[in-house]
Amino acid sequence: MNNDVDNEYDSQESKDPADKDAELSSDIRIREMRYTDSEEVIEIIGLAMNKEEARWAKETIDFHYFCEQNNQDDGRNYLLATLNNQPIGITGLHRYIWGPEDITWLGWFAVRPEYQRMGIGKKMMEETCEIARSRGFRKIFIETYSNDDFEKGREFYEKFGFVQTGSIDGYLKPDTDMVVYSRDLNGF
Ligand SMILES: CC(C)(COP(=O)(O)OP(=O)(O)OC[C@H]1O[C@@H](n2cnc3c(N)ncnc32)[C@H](O)[C@@H]1OP(=O)(O)O)[C@@H](O)C(=O)NCCC(=O)NCCS
Repeated sequence: MNNDVDNEYDSQESKDPADKDAELSSDIRIREMRYTDSEEVIEIIGLAMNKEEARWAKETIDFHYFCEQNNQDDGRNYLLATLNNQPIGITGLHRYIWGPEDITWLGWFAVRPEYQRMGIGKKMMEETCEIARSRGFRKIFIETYSNDDFEKGREFYEKFGFVQTGSIDGYLKPDTDMVVYSRDLNGF
């Protein structure tokens, strides 16, 4: 399975002058994240979720680039959403390297708070799923949580046809469950 993301995913949507969100979203570029973007990505995750998630994100990002330097595949791709070259969102794919080859998980997914509700998450999700489908993945899963920090995420995923397919009680904290969503990539 090809894990390289060398292209800039630059979909040319038709602009509707009456729709500011559509205009903004057509100015969003999605490209492969680079190591030099790490600080800003970690900041976005800290602001959109919380400091603990930012700390874990730093660990996964550092590990990813360590693997890359050593020609090892950690199963992850990180994709950055930019506006005028400024990072404003993070998305990506995460394949368990020991798991089924046609299943992927959504990677870290967040939009800088001041840019939320402008259609950027939608664009990130559509392009991420398109990339996943083009790589031959059949189904995408999402790991999220039951607490308030992830309420927007749960609403967003449900809006995009993801269905809750499981949960693990008390996974993140004694009172916070892991919630798993999934959907088929065909017909996204
Ligand atoms: C989830 C997230 C990435 C969505 O990004 P976004 O750019 O705001 O999403 P969009 O503007 O594309 O929203 C598309 C649609 O999703 C739904 N939606 C998005 N945010 C929502 C919210 N806070 N409450 C209810 N519905 C929401 C709406 O239907 C929205 O369409 P509308 O604005 O026309 O009503 C963003 O809220 C975020 O970063 N949240 C915090 C981090 C997080 O929870 N990430 C998921 C971790 S697993």
